[in-house]
Amino acid sequence: MAMDSLITSLVLVVVLLTTTTLPFSSSSLPFIVLHGIGDQCSNGGVSQFTELLSNWSGSQGYCIEIGSGTWDSWFKPLTEQAEIVCDKVKEMKELSEGFNIVGLSQGNLIGRAVVEYCDGVPPVKNMISLGGPHAGEASVPLCGSGIFCIIADNLIKSEIYSKYVQAHLAPSGYVKIPTDISAYLSGCKFLPKLNNELPDERNATYKDRFTSLQNLVLIMFEHDTVLIPKETAWFGYYPDGAFEPVLPPQQVWPLTKLYVEDWIGLRTLDEAGKVKYISVPGNHLGISRSDMKKYVVPYLMDESVTETASSSIHWPLSVWTFIGELFGLSDRPLQHK
Ligand SMILES: *[C@@H]1O[C@H](CO)[C@@H](O)[C@H](O)[C@H]1NC(C)=O
Ligand SMILES: *[C@@H]1O[C@H](CO)[C@@H](O)[C@H](O)[C@H]1NC(C)=O
Repeated sequence: MAMDSLITSLVLVVVLLTTTTLPFSSSSLPFIVLHGIGDQCSNGGVSQFTELLSNWSGSQGYCIEIGSGTWDSWFKPLTEQAEIVCDKVKEMKELSEGFNIVGLSQGNLIGRAVVEYCDGVPPVKNMISLGGPHAGEASVPLCGSGIFCIIADNLIKSEIYSKYVQAHLAPSGYVKIPTDISAYLSGCKFLPKLNNELPDERNATYKDRFTSLQNLVLIMFEHDTVLIPKETAWFGYYPDGAFEPVLPPQQVWPLTKLYVEDWIGLRTLDEAGKVKYISVPGNHLGISRSDMKKYVVPYLMDESVTETASSSIHWPLSVWTFIGELFGLSDRPLQHK
């Protein structure tokens, strides 16, 4: 009996809290999820991830698939993958008032292409990036340290900027070998354009659109063994010509040129306080539920919660944590590739 009434009053509290302070449903912007390499929307990890974020934020989430999923994530060039997503999001009526983007790993580069140069796309408000290889990747992802992998890695590296590899292996669009920058700039088809790295081809529109984001949340995984260097998730990278040191994106000398010269507006966004540099424990994309609630969910909720009631951002989350604990939801990290 006592337990029953306790539960009843808890439910009541929750209903009151959610109806009075969390404007669910129609008023909040939807979000899209762009998955990583070797993954697809129908896989348990991604679909659960999308559903959890929807449930916690009260906003509708859509995982956007590219072609057949896993296969195309590996072998369709990123330029084409980005065009497919650009076309899809423009056709979705649900997104016509604007939307937020949640990117997983490689999906972040596609997400940025949507923000920077998808003509006619509805406004993107917040972009939340989990483990994105924003400044490049110094190895072919997901290859281990076994001997075959090392051989394959070296073979691929020597040919990575060839026309053939560029047209048939998605990650070749963002592999940036620090000791081979001129080949990267002339041969790599995707990232140099996305990052406005080519001096003669810089497009001010990319910067204008990127700086129109209200928040850019960059989540780096402290024990990331897939992104090399892991700081690429924050736009940090190696200097041209060497594999060390890793240049942090901001505040510490020496800085990357992308940041200092503000090629895509990262510095402008940062100086306006709109870039959140977040570091969480775990390997690549292994984010815990509590970190999802802390660093992702608030940016998917309605404006009146995330902006006007900033002092109360934390308590709805702790209410959810409390309820989660009460009902025995665990705090296991989600594992996505
Ligand atoms: C999300 O909420 C719905 C409805 O309450 C529930 O059926 C579903 O299991 C939840 N999803 C997850 C991943 O917890
Ligand atoms: C710059 O990018 C925008 C967005 O895609 C495009 O419409 C425009 O034509 C580009 N400008 C040049 C000079 O390429």
